[in-house]
Amino acid sequence: LDGFDVVVVGAGFFGAVIAEQVASRLGRSVCVLDRRPHIGGNAYSELDPDSGVEVHRYGTHIFHTNSETVWRYLHRFTEFTGYRHRVFTVANGRVYSMPINLATVCAAFGRVMSPDEARAVIAAEAAAHGAAGIGNLEDKAIASVGRTLYDLLIRGYTQKQWQTDPRELSADIIGRLPVRFTFDDRYFADRYEGMPLDGYTAIFRGMLGHPRIAVHLGVDYFDVADRINPRQLVVYTGPIDRFFGYACGHLGWRTVDFAREVHDVADYQGAAVINYADAEVPFTRVHEFRHLHPERAHAQGRTTIYREYSRFAGRSDEPYYPINTAADRAMLASYRAMTASRPNVIFGGRLGSYKYLDMHQAIGAALKTFEHEVEPFLARQGMHL
Ligand code: FDA
Repeated sequence: LDGFDVVVVGAGFFGAVIAEQVASRLGRSVCVLDRRPHIGGNAYSELDPDSGVEVHRYGTHIFHTNSETVWRYLHRFTEFTGYRHRVFTVANGRVYSMPINLATVCAAFGRVMSPDEARAVIAAEAAAHGAAGIGNLEDKAIASVGRTLYDLLIRGYTQKQWQTDPRELSADIIGRLPVRFTFDDRYFADRYEGMPLDGYTAIFRGMLGHPRIAVHLGVDYFDVADRINPRQLVVYTGPIDRFFGYACGHLGWRTVDFAREVHDVADYQGAAVINYADAEVPFTRVHEFRHLHPERAHAQGRTTIYREYSRFAGRSDEPYYPINTAADRAMLASYRAMTASRPNVIFGGRLGSYKYLDMHQAIGAALKTFEHEVEPFLARQGMHL
C-alpha cells in the first residue's frame, strides 16, 4: 500500500471516479480497496446464472441526470440505451401509474377528469383534512395528494418501508409528494436517461482498468489501515461512523432484503418495477430485470425477479437509506468535526457523507472532490517532497 500515491476505499461510483481521474489526469498511482468481492458498489450488475438476465444485486439502477458534465463523462466508458423508466403500483387489486399523474387520479376516482378537476378534487380533500399544523408524515402526504390517493397508494407502502404507522413518522423524512396533472407517466423527468448498453459492471471495468490503478477486492480497509503511511492520501467512501470507531454512536439506516426467484415464464410482470402498496402484502416492490434491456435477445422461457422487503438496518446489515432523524444529524455533525483530525483523509460517497445520492450525484460529487480536494492535496504534497 505504501508505494501508491492515493488509496481509495470503496469501488463504487464515488471511489471509481476518483481513482480514474487521479490515474488518467495526473498519471499518479492508485490502490482501490473494497471489502466486497466485486467492483461497482451498489451499482454492481451480473448475469443471473439460471436465466442469463443481467440483474442488479442491490436493486434496480436506472441512470438519469440533468448534468451535461456527468453525462459526457460517462460516455467515455459506455453508450446508453433509450430506456425510459415507468413504474406501476398494485393496490387493492388494481394497477396504477406512478408517480401520481392524471391517469392515476382518474383511475383512483373511477372517472375521467380534466387537469383542473383533478387539481380541485385533491385540493378539497387536502383542505378537509386540515393542512395547518402539519406534524406527522400522514398530514404532510395528505396535504400533497389528498386522502383518497394517500389511503390507496401511500399509507400501506410507507408503513412497510418504515415499519411504523405514518402518523408516528416525522413529516421531515419526506419531501412534498409530487402530483402531475398531465398524463406524463415517466418516472424521471431528467434531460438524460438510459441504461448502460453493456451493463454497469462494464463501466467500472473501463474506469478501473487503467494501468496505474490496482484493485484489491475482499479487503476491509480497517484490516490494513495500519499499513498505510499517515501522510498518504486516503479517499474513504465507507461509513463515516465506522471510520471513527462509532465514538459518537451508530448513524441510523434502513436496509432492504431481496428474495431472488427464477420463473419458467418469458415475462413475469410486464415491467421492470412494480410497487405493492397494500400493508398486508409483505414486500414493497418486485423487480424484473429483463425489462431494463428490451433491446437484448434474452433467452425465452426464464426470468429472474427480486422481491424487495424493507426494514431498519441492524449493525451487520448493508446500510441503504439514511434515516436522518434530528439525533442522526447531530451525530453526523460531531463526526464531521472529527474529520479535521485526519487531514490526509477525504470522505465522500453516500456512506462517507451519510446522504442518499443517486448515481449522477455520486459521480458529480466525485468529479468536484477530485478537482477541489484531491488534486490540490497531491500538488501540495509534490511541493514538499
Ligand atoms: P457505494 O455504496 O456504491 O460504494 C461504496 C463501496 O465502499 C462499497 O462497495 C463498499 O463495499 C465499500 N466499502 C465500505 N466500507 C469499506 C471498508 N471498510 N473497506 C473497504 N471497502 C468498503 N441511483 C440512481 O441514480 N438510480 C437508481 O435507479 C438507483 N437505484 C437505487 C436502488 C437502491 C435500492 C439503492 C439503495 C440505491 C439506488 N441508487 C440509484 C443509488 C446508487 O446506488 C448510489 O448513487 C451509488 O451506490 C453511490 O455510490 P458510492 O460510491 O457513493 O457508494
